[in-house]
Amino acid sequence: MALSGKSRLSGVVTAFVMLVSPVVAQESSELPALIEQWLASPHGDYTSPSFTHWNEDGEVPPNCAACHSQTGFIDFLGADGSMPGVVDHAAAINAPIGCASCHTSEAHALDSVAFPSGETVDGLGASAVCTVCHQGRQSGDNVLGATRGIDEDTISPDLAFLNVHYGIAAAVMHGSETRGGFHYPGKTYAGRFTHVPSVNTCVACHDAHTTQVATDSCTSCHRGVENIRDIRTRHQDFDGDGDNAGGIHAEIFGLHRQLYAAIQAYGTEVTNAPIGYASGAFPYFFNDTDGDGQISADEAIFPNRYQSWTPRLLKAAYNYQVVQKDPGGYVHNPSYVLQLLYDSLESLSLKVDVEMSVLRRP
Ligand code: HEC
Ligand code: HEC
Ligand code: HEC
Ligand code: HEC
Ligand code: HEC
Repeated sequence: MALSGKSRLSGVVTAFVMLVSPVVAQESSELPALIEQWLASPHGDYTSPSFTHWNEDGEVPPNCAACHSQTGFIDFLGADGSMPGVVDHAAAINAPIGCASCHTSEAHALDSVAFPSGETVDGLGASAVCTVCHQGRQSGDNVLGATRGIDEDTISPDLAFLNVHYGIAAAVMHGSETRGGFHYPGKTYAGRFTHVPSVNTCVACHDAHTTQVATDSCTSCHRGVENIRDIRTRHQDFDGDGDNAGGIHAEIFGLHRQLYAAIQAYGTEVTNAPIGYASGAFPYFFNDTDGDGQISADEAIFPNRYQSWTPRLLKAAYNYQVVQKDPGGYVHNPSYVLQLLYDSLESLSLKVDVEMSVLRRP
């Protein structure tokens, strides 16, 4: 039976007060407002695909549960008495990220988090919980491993698209420290974007309960911008369009668009298998069967997924998706994102026409 918002709310209040009441008893007048905020946030959205995707199966499998079910996250942290760092059991469906996810003693104590590359980051404090779930599920190391020993421009049936996953802010923010993107050999990449001390952690910018960012605070330093996407502190023209008036976001957007064009050119000219991207359909890259440059709804189906991967194409497509799946990349780590895009374009430029001379690498 579906619970109404109100009865859910009172259930959440009771559960929370039982959980941490000694600490917050005196603040409990603030709780209902805080809970309302959480219920309206993406973490409290019972209807989101992030929490309903497994409803037909009846349980969230262990490899998805840490991030997609409250009971799975509790299991991952070991707050249910199980071993920390692994999910031992399938978890509850339709169980969004509630108070008891982030407010157990294990969650409060969590300070270091391992990433898909195997690298661990310490000293994360209150942002450690965010980092567990917003780190993605692949790293550039997986791309390196999958492509090793295969000629750069030879199609291999052993290759398939590697999807970094979604909401990967932490992987981008930590840059070269955690290798969320594919790093081209011989290049160096920006590490964690430290920004300024007052805004260098997840919870310094995002309210932990609404998940929103109070953007008024940004303009105390970044003066004269109407929209945070217009912020820039560097004046180079990275994407070569002759325009450095917009934000750093516009430079990233420009390079991302050029990377897509280069990926498509490579499909047409090198693999002889036209390729295109459909943002809402897994696994994102499909055969452009009619070669019209667009992926239509009947092309964006799993059996038509792209299968003519070469190492060079897979690396570029992986980085394309890394940038696509962090819409906040320009705030989380602008240099890292610009570097991934530049290097992917440079690699493709050895085979297809890309005007590299006008592009800049930070
Ligand atoms: C390391 C944490 C993590 C793991 C493990 C994980 N996911 Fe996710 N997933 C996320 C996050 C975070 C989002 C939400 C991103 C957003 O909306 O910004 C997400 C979103 C999704 C979505 C919604 C996508 C969309 O476009 O709205 C689906 C479907 C999904 N994941 C499937 C899976 C499956 C299947 C597994 C297991 C094979 C899995 N996830 C494992 C973190 C994870
Ligand atoms: C995604 C993780 C997460 C979830 C879910 C969450 N919290 Fe929090 N909560 C935090 C973090 C992190 C802080 C500390 C914020 C900081 O240090 O800036 C916090 C702080 C608090 C505080 C201290 C006062 C404040 O506002 O900073 C209270 C009370 C609280 N949470 C209650 C709740 C309740 C009630 C729920 C469920 C409706 C909830 N939290 C859900 C992460 C979470
Ligand atoms: C247990 C896993 C988990 C934890 C812990 C977690 N998140 Fe999330 N987060 C998710 C999932 C899953 C979604 C997608 C929810 C949805 O689709 O409704 C999400 C959504 C978001 C979004 C909105 C993304 C969008 O697409 O609009 C932001 C911002 C966010 N989280 C930030 C944070 C911050 C900041 C913290 C730490 C205080 C945090 N998250 C902790 C799993 C988690
Ligand atoms: C300097 C402030 C800042 C820091 C630090 C920061 N974020 Fe963000 N984040 C933002 C802003 C601003 C946006 C929205 C960008 C936009 O949409 O133009 C954003 C976007 C996001 C999104 C995507 C929301 C969407 O609409 O899809 C997620 C998820 C997210 N952040 C999570 C995190 C996590 C997790 C951390 C810590 C690893 C973090 N952020 C660190 C400011 C910050
Ligand atoms: C205390 C001052 C201060 C605050 C507050 C602040 N910033 Fe910054 N920001 C800076 C400085 C200084 C830099 C340059 C850092 C560097 O390049 O290492 C910067 C760089 C940036 C950049 C990269 C610009 C470029 O050209 O590469 C973006 C985007 C950005 N900030 C967005 C934000 C957002 C969004 C917020 C609010 C959530 C915010 N900033 C809050 C001082 C601040």
